[in-house]
Amino acid sequence: MSRLRALPVVLAVVILSCKTAETPAPAPVKAEPAPVAKVEPPPAPPEPKIDLPLAAALLKPPLGLGEVAAPIENPTTAEKVDLGWKLFFDKRLSKDGSMACAQCHHIELAYTSGAALDAKVGGAQNKRNAPSMLNLGYHSSFYWDGRMPTLEAVSNAAWKGQLGADPAAVAKSLNEVPVYKALFVRAFGEPASADNVPRALASWLRALQSGNSAWDKAQAGDAKALSKDAQEGSKLFTSKGCIVCHVPPLFSDFDFHSAGIGDDAGRKDTTKADADVGKFKTPSLRNVALTAPYFHDGHAKTLEEAIALMAKGTGGGPHPVDAKFKAQKLSPKEAKALKAFLESLTGESTFTTEPTLP
Ligand code: HEC
Ligand code: HEC
Repeated sequence: MSRLRALPVVLAVVILSCKTAETPAPAPVKAEPAPVAKVEPPPAPPEPKIDLPLAAALLKPPLGLGEVAAPIENPTTAEKVDLGWKLFFDKRLSKDGSMACAQCHHIELAYTSGAALDAKVGGAQNKRNAPSMLNLGYHSSFYWDGRMPTLEAVSNAAWKGQLGADPAAVAKSLNEVPVYKALFVRAFGEPASADNVPRALASWLRALQSGNSAWDKAQAGDAKALSKDAQEGSKLFTSKGCIVCHVPPLFSDFDFHSAGIGDDAGRKDTTKADADVGKFKTPSLRNVALTAPYFHDGHAKTLEEAIALMAKGTGGGPHPVDAKFKAQKLSPKEAKALKAFLESLTGESTFTTEPTLP
């Protein structure tokens, strides 16, 4: 710009600023009620259009297992399952972005942690071992002492307890990720909230199933599915009384028993009844070959050790042992056969890969 052409602009600025400086303050005007102007809210910015890939269709239950029931308040849908799968693997669910649910529930270990005990976000130690997430849809209560009644409640407790989350704050930050927000709207008809995050997790957990093991195939008539040892072990499992508590097809009675392991009060913490001291939920033995270390405190490092303790019928701890435990003598051959039988309960599972996160 030439100096000449810039001159009028400069002049105008100078004049204007002088004018402002010299203008006397306006005399106070008698306050008239201001006409109420109709302020139109600024138009909301348009939601970005997001094309979500279709959620995978729900699968039929695997060979050996029936349908999983869902509560009427939270029917299972493909969209919720897909969302819950992502949430379980996402560190953004935690207080400080440091930990996902999957930190203590690894795919290849039948969704257990592999450690006896794990530290939560913030460093506090769990006092009990992280159990498998497979086939939880068939359980009637949750945690080792059964203190949680539904998968929604236990997911909510884990979200706050293990991941240290402030649910409302985490839901807000999930909604800042446009794809997440769209996934929530698709699954629940609303953005992420403190309430629907645990519901999505619960729906996914109901779809996380494992069956079609060698044992299931044998039950379905395949005579060659079980090795000689496993067949022998299957008979011992009945004759040694294991089946009294580890009831097929899930190999649990979903009841609580004391095996005298450690000094943890177990179910008594929840019911406050002395009769429940030292009792824990009978773990399902499906996929048990993958879930070492064993027992509520994870102190048995190998399956052999766990079988030996169960056969002995007591861990030698201070709490009285359930009368259903009968001390059994196991020869090395019998112990080997029982182990082969338990290995035949390793099945094929849904969700054996990590999801792609938004
Ligand atoms: C730091 C480790 C850790 C993290 C992270 C974790 N869990 Fe767990 N989980 C455990 C432990 C330990 C238990 C057993 C607690 C008990 O029985 O008292 C458990 C138990 C459970 C159970 C009950 C299983 C049963 O057999 O009753 C469910 C369901 C579960 N977790 C889901 C989740 C979900 C969902 C998340 C994420 C929101 C999560 N967990 C994060 C360690 C963890
Ligand atoms: C009276 C009921 C009962 C009987 C009988 C019983 N169990 Fe158990 N079993 C349990 C309970 C309860 C636990 C968990 C105990 C704990 O952690 O304190 C358990 C745990 C186990 C575990 C460890 C599983 C895990 O995920 O940690 C194995 C393996 C096992 N039992 C095998 C057997 C075998 C083999 C027999 C027969 C020799 C047997 N059980 C007899 C109730 C029983």
